[in-house]
Amino acid sequence: MKHPRHFLKLDDLSQAELLEVLELSMRPELPPLLAGKGVALVFEKPSARTRHSVEMAAVQLGAHPSVTRADEIQLGQREEIADVARTFGCFYSMVGLRVFWHQTLLDYASASPVPTINLLSDRSHPLQALADILTMAQQWGIAPHDMPDGFAGRSVAYVGDPNNVAKSLALACAMLGIEFRLSCPKGYTFPEEDIATILPVAKVNGVASWEALDPKEVVAGADVVYTDVWASMGQEAQTDQRRADFAGYTVTAELMELAAPEAIFLHCLPAHRGEEVADEVLEGRQSRVWRQVENRMHTARGLMAWLQGGSQA
Ligand code: CP
Ligand code: NVA
Repeated sequence: MKHPRHFLKLDDLSQAELLEVLELSMRPELPPLLAGKGVALVFEKPSARTRHSVEMAAVQLGAHPSVTRADEIQLGQREEIADVARTFGCFYSMVGLRVFWHQTLLDYASASPVPTINLLSDRSHPLQALADILTMAQQWGIAPHDMPDGFAGRSVAYVGDPNNVAKSLALACAMLGIEFRLSCPKGYTFPEEDIATILPVAKVNGVASWEALDPKEVVAGADVVYTDVWASMGQEAQTDQRRADFAGYTVTAELMELAAPEAIFLHCLPAHRGEEVADEVLEGRQSRVWRQVENRMHTARGLMAWLQGGSQA
């Protein structure tokens, strides 16, 4: 079997490849690289942005997108994950999956004859990180050929749960020479394996990645303030505990005042207004969350085009 490229985590791409994906994402029109082909999208969890952005991106590349709720397939229950991967490989040119356990993606990709795309797992959300980076690049007017140097001196302060979104964002920042700062309550830091991945990459690209308990410390002078929900999908039973643990970690207008004067606010959405972010920040002048949402489609298109050999087209 030919081994396809997969996109399960951001560093499945080299820095140069990541820049190629961003360059393709910035092109409003690409050739119909997937004309007459199919893209399957499988969801074990709900989705508004990921499902619809990838679906429309597939259409823009000429593909037929096919969306399935995981209970229709019962991955690993009705039949082996590998057998589903080989079956889909007979029909589709790419397959995206949103899963509870990252291991499901690894099992799927290891048997898939076509590229597998992570549509969010418990460990990472690399498609979101692509859109986050594109949003920053647009905000600061940085073209891919000026990256990573154009990002020099920039910093992202993430306040809240160091979850799948935060991990992919931290890695994206490390790969592109953007300082990443995390503020979360005691006991909620990144797992060792993620720290062991992120820190050396940040170091190679000449930036720091660090954390502090006090949100004010990390937000001070930051160019981007980012947050996400305190309880992710699959953690619903911990909601009350987490609400208590994360008290004081809300991104408020007062906190935003400590950031750089031109700082922007980002959130992957869905948001819980009044919990991780104040309504006035989400709706405020510094918020770029709707641009971020739109960029989910542009970066999904750029990634799928790249997986289809688009950077040579
Ligand atoms: N940001 C994001 O992935 O949103 P959905 O869960 O709606 O896809
Ligand atoms: N951390 C959130 C992100 C949703 C896009 C979750 O996993 O539920």
